[in-house]
Amino acid sequence: MTSMAFKYLHMAFVLFSVLFLNGRYFYRMVYPYRSLPKVYWLAQRGIDSCLLLSGILLMVLTKAIPFVNAQWLGVKLLLVICYVLFGMRAMKAKARGKESILAYCLSMLCIVTIVILSKYHMVLWR
Ligand code: HEM
Repeated sequence: MTSMAFKYLHMAFVLFSVLFLNGRYFYRMVYPYRSLPKVYWLAQRGIDSCLLLSGILLMVLTKAIPFVNAQWLGVKLLLVICYVLFGMRAMKAKARGKESILAYCLSMLCIVTIVILSKYHMVLWR
């Protein structure tokens, strides 16, 4: 039961993180010359930290160890790092520029892959 409750909490943080990144990204697309207050950047870091903490808690509860008894979790963690880095690139690069759009698309591709990995626990070579 506890693990189910934490899984829902984890998924809620996933949703907040993705919605918040999209909100910040599209704000910059619509208003490229306005800069968002720093508090939004801080809020994103806060949400992402909660996401990480809830993930670590789930790891403890489900006794999953990345690349040991859970290959999928190891790959997922690498993709989470890519998601964060691409998200940061999308926000730092020139608004509406090719680099920003590419980084944004790659960060969303990471999210889709992470969700599929989390649901089906499978990696290509297993
Ligand atoms: C962008 C980041 C993330 C996304 C999109 C994501 C997505 C998800 C989803 C959708 C589930 C539920 C799967 C189901 O229906 O059973 C889940 C479960 C889980 N996640 Fe994440 N997650 C993210 C980050 C993390 C991180 C950083 C960790 C570890 C540090 C983590 C560890 C776990 C674990 C251990 C489970 C439980 C899997 C099981 O039921 O056996 N997640 N994640």
